[in-house]
Amino acid sequence: MLKLLNISASYQDFLVLENISLEISAQKFYGIIGPNGAGKTTLLKTMTRIKRPESGNVRLLGKNISKLANKEIAKIMAVVPQSSFIPPLFTVEEVVSMGRYPFQNFRFSDTKEDRSIVDAAIEKTGIHGFRSRMISELSGGQRQEVIIARALAQTPQILMLDEPTANLDIKHQMKILGLTASLVKNDGLAAVMVIHDLNLAARFCDLLILIHDKKILAMGPPETVLTPAHLKIAYGVDTAVIENPLTRSLEVTVLDKTYHHRKIV
Ligand SMILES: Nc1ncnc2c1ncn2[C@@H]1O[C@H](COP(=O)(O)OP(=O)(O)O)[C@@H](O)[C@H]1O
Ligand SMILES: [Mg+2]
Repeated sequence: MLKLLNISASYQDFLVLENISLEISAQKFYGIIGPNGAGKTTLLKTMTRIKRPESGNVRLLGKNISKLANKEIAKIMAVVPQSSFIPPLFTVEEVVSMGRYPFQNFRFSDTKEDRSIVDAAIEKTGIHGFRSRMISELSGGQRQEVIIARALAQTPQILMLDEPTANLDIKHQMKILGLTASLVKNDGLAAVMVIHDLNLAARFCDLLILIHDKKILAMGPPETVLTPAHLKIAYGVDTAVIENPLTRSLEVTVLDKTYHHRKIV
């Protein structure tokens, strides 16, 4: 669906990503992980053409993304940014409706189809309870759900999320990641998410992309990426990686004594 070929990206003279190649496929949930400042957001922005790479190219459904119009990209790909400004004086329903904008040529009113897509997005994200409320009256978790609903209203084939669970409580984390995983599994979307929480990444993502030193240090299923050796290189800490017997997914525990205040058994 989305292909990156030899992508290098920089800010002024500062190189952030060097020669990155990867492919995003339908029905897979990808997690981009790596230390602060590694270039995860830059990678996501390159994939969505928010940032233009220094060299290399990005192909979306076989077409060079730099040659596509913004609206064409928005019909295929929806982005949930790291921090998003939402105009506070709109209702939830109005904000979700903004997801239909790429489909509205020469008209400013919703069609029946637009309205039913917006309703479906509101239903799927479970925000019908506050659909008429103002954005400014919502909690951080509720607002994040509205942004995801707006992304779904774009009826995208690819969903991009930059740290969607940062600042959310455990219930909302599960809700948002569970919803994304079900969109991938049941609706055939591809999802690409930047996430710091390695345990949530291991639990929900099919494939992880570990960014370190401008490159992909490892890419593959959590078992091949989340190894103590990789984590030592990328984060510089000692870890133990064990399978949680209840969830059957991997869990990372930092063992580094430098940062520990109780004795590790
Ligand atoms: N707009 C920008 N201008 C200059 N430098 C930037 C800009 N955005 C990010 N950077 C730098 O690029 C590097 C990678 O940033 P980013 O992709 O945001 O990392 P991550 O998301 O992995 O934390 C960091 O060193 C950051 O300071
Ligand atoms: Mg970031």
